[in-house]
Amino acid sequence: MADINLRVNGSEKKVSVSPETPLLWVLRDSLELTGTKFGCGAGLCGACTVHVDGAAVRSCSTPVSQVVGKTVMTIEGLGANGLHPVQQAWIAEEVPQCGYCQVGQIMAAAALLAKTPNPTDDEITRGMNGNICRCGTYERIRMAIHRAANAGGAR
Ligand code: FES
Ligand code: FES
Repeated sequence: MADINLRVNGSEKKVSVSPETPLLWVLRDSLELTGTKFGCGAGLCGACTVHVDGAAVRSCSTPVSQVVGKTVMTIEGLGANGLHPVQQAWIAEEVPQCGYCQVGQIMAAAALLAKTPNPTDDEITRGMNGNICRCGTYERIRMAIHRAANAGGAR
């Protein structure tokens, strides 16, 4: 166990955990930010995607020690000041089916648009590669990303 200081969703947090603890469990169990989901636990599905210094990162396979001194954002932070344009587009396109993968999809899409404000279909495919949806909502995800881009989706 060690005391670890983190910056999450704009706030300074202190947690007492082993430095190897996956960021996912620190977010969910220590900080009660349960919007971020556990899927495979092996870096393969994207359900646990959060932003670290603005980049999409798999929190299930990121030791908490690796994000010390960096900025972490979860879905709770993304929508803290009103729905993010990506969230608004997701609602407009009625993207979710069961919903389980969708937080990870939204975080991945927001990171993609921050880097590539007007992505082509190919750039969306590459940027969202690895975020698995067992319900097959990929086409609606693509439409929602284009919609968010058209609305100036990088925030
Ligand atoms: S739960 Fe992290 S990639 Fe699947
Ligand atoms: S909406 Fe069900 S897994 Fe994606």
